[in-house]
Order: sequence, then structure tokens, then C-alpha cells
Amino acid sequence: MSRRAPSMRACVASHATGGEGMAAPGDVTDEAQVQRYVDAVLERWGRIDILVNNAALLGGRGVLDESAADFERSVRVSSLGYFLNTKIVARSMAERGIRGSIVCVSSSNGWSGSPGVIAYAFNKGGVNNFVRAAAMDLAPYGIRVNSFTPTAPTPDNPELLAEGVRGVLDAPPGALRNGSGVETAAEPWRRPVRWQGERAPMVPMGTTGTPTDIGHAIAWLSSDYARLITGTDLVVDGGARARNFAYIPAAAEQLAGPVPLIALDDAALPVV
Ligand SMILES: NC(=O)c1ccc[n+]([C@@H]2O[C@H](COP(=O)([O-])OP(=O)(O)OC[C@H]3O[C@@H](n4cnc5c(N)ncnc54)[C@H](O)[C@@H]3O)[C@@H](O)[C@H]2O)c1
Repeated sequence: MSRRAPSMRACVASHATGGEGMAAPGDVTDEAQVQRYVDAVLERWGRIDILVNNAALLGGRGVLDESAADFERSVRVSSLGYFLNTKIVARSMAERGIRGSIVCVSSSNGWSGSPGVIAYAFNKGGVNNFVRAAAMDLAPYGIRVNSFTPTAPTPDNPELLAEGVRGVLDAPPGALRNGSGVETAAEPWRRPVRWQGERAPMVPMGTTGTPTDIGHAIAWLSSDYARLITGTDLVVDGGARARNFAYIPAAAEQLAGPVPLIALDDAALPVV
């Protein structure tokens, strides 16, 4: 989901599987808008089999500095947004007897703590139990609900990112925010929240992957191969979350690394 039609169209155009795509922009926190874009998709294809809840406000501030307004805005996008999309799409599935798949994108910040992202961490922790509860509500209909946890992937889509950056610049003030944005952090009592020195490698397989790895995994999780997987989390992070805090992996050049990435073919989808 996105509110920005140009970046959505760039996204659709860059996804290549030989099918068709459409952009249906809207604000995930507004129930009427969610209903409207879900209706637009239903009108075009008559059914929805897969929902991926993805919208979030990344970045933010730590607990000492986050504002009530920004905390609330962040919670509205990830928490209310995931709920409204799940509710409205799951109703469309249940009404049509579709045993669909709903995937909620979580984050490593939903499973362990990082400084400077208190609202984001609150949201993503909530997402992890939201999927378990929603999976129970929807199991009687054969609808599956799972979370998917990526960890800071390395982009492999520079042209799409460039489109996204244009979208950020075009966005109305306050629509998106990033970085710590802490103006008051100079007080003498402040302490650093991060290690400042040279950073040792922390990912056991040497890479957390790319958006293509994420797409493959979500496609599989939404397929009938995963027909009995519900209420759980799938993590694609090169072993980062499994790592014991005291273990520092070998440097990337000493690792075999993963097998080569299975790339998408590069024929663009027609945009409707
Ligand atoms: N980038 C990372 O390192 C990382 C790591 C772990 C998890 N994630 C998760 O992956 C998902 C995608 O993140 P990303 O890195 O692509 O970030 P992004 O900022 O590029 O994408 C977020 C999207 O949410 C949309 N959005 C924000 N508010 C909205 C609203 N009110 N209504 C509709 N759409 C709205 C934005 O338009 C944007 O397209 C998020 O759920 C994020 O938490 C990202």
C-alpha cells in the first residue's frame, strides 16, 4: 500500500512475472479509503487472494524524545493500517469462500530492541501477536495470517528507489519522517546509545539479502505450498536474528556466502 500513486506505478512497472498489475493508492489509516481501494481491486479482478501489509513509518526517536503526536501517527500507520486492511480484505475473502493468505511485514525491531525507534518497535512487536490472534479469527475460513521479518535488506532496485525518493520529496510536510530528529540531545546528562567504533560483522551468512529475497519468500508463504502455515513468522536475514549476542561472525570475505540470488526476469508488467 502507498499513498503515492507515482511510486506505486513505478513499483508495479518494475515487477516482472508476466502478469498484470494495478496501482490503487490510499491512506491505510482511513477506513473509507481502504474500503475504496479494496473495492477498486475487487472491481478489476473480482477477488483478492493475497494481502501483504507493508506500510510503515520508518525511523523515529527514542523513548526520551518521541513526541505524542509522532508516536500516535506511527502507531496509526502500522497498527491501525494493518488492522483495517486485514479486516476489509479478509471480509472479501470470507464472503467469496477464498482461502487466502495475509502477510504482515514485521521487522527485527519487533523481536529485539534498537535505540531511537520507540514507536516503530512498539508497532512491530504488536504486529507479531496481531498475526497470531488474526490467524485464530480467520482459521475457520481457511484464511492464513503470518508475519514476515526482513532485516535491513540491501536494495537491488535503484531505479525504483529513485522514484521513491522523488515521492518523499513530493510528500506533504509531516507525511513521512526519518532519522532521530532530536534537537534537545545536547544536555550534559545524555549518554550515547550506540557503539561508536569500528563495527564488527554481525550477519552469520554475510548478507541480510535484497528485496528480491523478500519477494520470493512472501510469494512462497502465500502459495498453497504453505497451506498449513498460519500464525507464525518467516524470517529472511542470513541468520541475524538467530545469532547469540556474544558471537561475532567471521568477516564477509571469509564466508562462502549464500547461493546466487534467483533474479526476477526483467520483462515489465503492463500497468492498468
Ligand atoms: N528498510 C528496512 O531496513 C526494513 C527492515 C525491516 C522491516 N522493514 C519493513 O518493511 C516494510 C517496508 O519498508 P521500506 O523499507 O520499504 O520503507 P518505505 O518507507 O520505503 O515504505 C513504506 C511505505 O509505506 C507507505 N505509507 C506510509 N504511510 C502510509 C499511509 N498512511 N497509507 C498508505 N501507505 C503509507 C509509504 O508511502 C511507503 O510506500 C515496512 O513494514 C518496514 O517496517 C523495513
